[in-house]
Amino acid sequence: NYSTTIANEHFDHLLLNAGGIFCESVDQLEKIQHAPGAGAVMTKSATAEKRAGNPNPRYFTYPDHHNTINAMGLPNLGIDYYLDYVLHHQLTLPTILSVVGLSEEEILANLKKIQASGYDGLIELNLSCPNVPGKPQIAYDFDTTDHLLDRIYSFFTGHLGVKLPPYFDMAHFDRIAKILNQYPLAYVNAVNSVGNGLVIDPETDRVVLMAKGGFGGLGGAQIKATALANVRALRLRLKPEIKIIGTGGVTTGRDVYDHLLCGADLVSVGSQLAIEGPSIFQRLEDELEAIFAEKHIESLDQVRGKLKRL
Ligand code: DHB
Repeated sequence: NYSTTIANEHFDHLLLNAGGIFCESVDQLEKIQHAPGAGAVMTKSATAEKRAGNPNPRYFTYPDHHNTINAMGLPNLGIDYYLDYVLHHQLTLPTILSVVGLSEEEILANLKKIQASGYDGLIELNLSCPNVPGKPQIAYDFDTTDHLLDRIYSFFTGHLGVKLPPYFDMAHFDRIAKILNQYPLAYVNAVNSVGNGLVIDPETDRVVLMAKGGFGGLGGAQIKATALANVRALRLRLKPEIKIIGTGGVTTGRDVYDHLLCGADLVSVGSQLAIEGPSIFQRLEDELEAIFAEKHIESLDQVRGKLKRL
């Protein structure tokens, strides 16, 4: 029994697609809606207008088939498309509407539009897209993040979560948690891709991505330790009302289990979902189930946040 609640939304399974993966078109979103073992669906982060994104190649899977680098550049069909999807389609699973903006005004306009629509589901504000040339990740600027959330909560009454970039310094965990704790957030999603890595093709001595000189967001097994550190550090600092979606480095049921130990309420899967397809949810849930059986775990409460120290 994997029953979990965030705000007004109830989940029967723990896993969902990570932002950006299998979620740009209704066709893709529907594949997650109907994937056995999936517990929720995340839509592609939407801008006010549709965007083509960066030139190809913009997504690269390592030869090991467990890691990726991308510089997608926010290709998406625009907020109206995803808002129409969550409002007017017959949704099988709880569906999270992800929004972003290339300016503070665009973010506020998107949230105003959502508010005016009467949409009552979960919304994720992406504060951490690393791939738009010239646009820094908002959540690395603490004052801007605080100011933006202050402006949002001057009018916004919906169920909002935020997608965070990975942090790498304990003082930064303290700083972001202190800011987030001031607001009635439903959840945080940690982490986005590890921004601006660089992968080189040994055959050609060239970068593997076209945009941004090859710099791109890292995902997959290589970011697991960073993701776990962020989930754990945030769980230890955030008020209990703020739930956590753990994202990063999930390729096995053990990885899901480790996110739970660090305090994740739900767990999302990005790179390995892109590699394996939507059948991955049932595989991961089966592997998690086997770990629970072996350890004689009967309820999520026995695992969630129960990481042991030495
Ligand atoms: C993109 C990448 C991200 O990591 C993100 O959070 C949003 C968008 C992208 O490049 O499209």
